[in-house]
Amino acid sequence: MAMNGVRQDNPVVVVHGGAWNIPDQLLEGSKNGAKASARAAYRILKMGGSALDAVVAAVRVLEDDVNFDAGTGSVLNSNGEVEMDAVIMDGKTLNAGGVACVQNIKNPIDLARLVMDKTEHVLLVGKGANQFAEEMGIKEIPVSQLVTEEARREFNCYKQYGNAVEELFGRKKDLSHDTVGAVALDMHGNIAYGMSTGGITAKRPGRVGDSPIVGNGGYADNEVGAVSCTGHGESIIKVCLAHSIISYMEQGMSAQEAAEKGLMKMDQRVNGHGGVIVVGKNGDIGTFFTTPRMTWAWVKDNKLHYGIEDNEDNCEDFE
Ligand code: GLY
Repeated sequence: MAMNGVRQDNPVVVVHGGAWNIPDQLLEGSKNGAKASARAAYRILKMGGSALDAVVAAVRVLEDDVNFDAGTGSVLNSNGEVEMDAVIMDGKTLNAGGVACVQNIKNPIDLARLVMDKTEHVLLVGKGANQFAEEMGIKEIPVSQLVTEEARREFNCYKQYGNAVEELFGRKKDLSHDTVGAVALDMHGNIAYGMSTGGITAKRPGRVGDSPIVGNGGYADNEVGAVSCTGHGESIIKVCLAHSIISYMEQGMSAQEAAEKGLMKMDQRVNGHGGVIVVGKNGDIGTFFTTPRMTWAWVKDNKLHYGIEDNEDNCEDFE
């Protein structure tokens, strides 16, 4: 039976723009992008809109922002091509929709939503996903519209995937990008998460990361909360990071405690680094990362919080 959540007077949205070695020149743009994303989602939630619509709005803003590795600005695979993954999940029904390895699509999060709403499936990949997009009337765009100078520059730096991982998520250098994501709790007590990514620079063609795999890169359940992960996808998949965090919350941990425990376990078990954002069914929030930086923002009680460095927490009124 579908679960309706407990009515909330105070909706919540939390977004991230990726956990990695974010270079200084991207700090301002990344923070502004995360703030704009959180604001777009919160406007929907304040008007009584759904958590699903809010996470789509949040992710779209980040996909359209060249500071982030999703949609426009996606990194390039080892063939020098864009291949993007996206996902959405409804915590009320546990329905989900995802796409992987799609090309020529401006906003993969919209396609993921259509997979959830219009098919019997959870995940469509590659050509099949592009074919579905065509059937749904989503216009293909020239891939050159998605490729930024920054993505080309990174591609030239990281021709070998094996070299890229430590440099993106470890503490050696400060290049490349990672996933964007959002979790939201609406006034009706419903919870959702959505994510989108170009993956990892110089990945093999056909490589799928954690993001579109439900329970790995993210999860949403009205009875517990929602999680969206970012970081090294292969590590996240190995420890089923999102669902582990959900399980810790079911065992009584707060959103913050569960976020920290999940990422510490990933570090200890597979030496993997990343970040997570979490919202609990009652609106408690968790944000944590084990990479040098993570762009995040959240809005609750008309207050917008955001940051990027360890222990950074700026606050503004939501307007
Ligand atoms: N976390 C994004 C990826 O590894 O594809």
